[in-house]
Amino acid sequence: MISEKMEAAINKQIKDEMYSSNLYLSMVAYFENLGLKGFANWMRVQVQEENAHAMGLFDYLISRDGRVVLETIDKPPFEWSSPLECFEAVYRHEQLVTSLINELVDVAEEVKDRAAISFLQWYIKEQVEEEANCSEICAKLKLIGSDANALLLIDQELGARTYVAPVIA
Ligand code: FEO
Repeated sequence: MISEKMEAAINKQIKDEMYSSNLYLSMVAYFENLGLKGFANWMRVQVQEENAHAMGLFDYLISRDGRVVLETIDKPPFEWSSPLECFEAVYRHEQLVTSLINELVDVAEEVKDRAAISFLQWYIKEQVEEEANCSEICAKLKLIGSDANALLLIDQELGARTYVAPVIA
């Protein structure tokens, strides 16, 4: 059994992960409209990752005999002024998610839920990777500035990203 406080905090994080999925899906559409298929592919993989993050929490809550309550998901933005601005938004969003995961761990510690503390370690490590990935892409986009050929090279590189389902445990 899980405490009501922990249950509510996990339900909120399920919503936040689903918002992340919708935000990146909105970015898929943005890049598709620009004709940058590789960027769009990178975001499509990101959508799958966010869905997996949400489902990991969903299944965990059920395994603890908790009640999943799906909350309303805010409408994400749909317009950015450039690929760099879009990736800077991704980076800021992932920093926010890191702080939300940390708050979730704070709740687990407060209610002395050791199983949840252990389970959430995966999410803490995942956030390090999430932030590193978008920080690296932001740095490249800053370097190339308005060089269209270089942008197409990055598009090719991002087009090679494939989804590998994570094992969340
Ligand atoms: Fe679910 Fe991108 O963190």
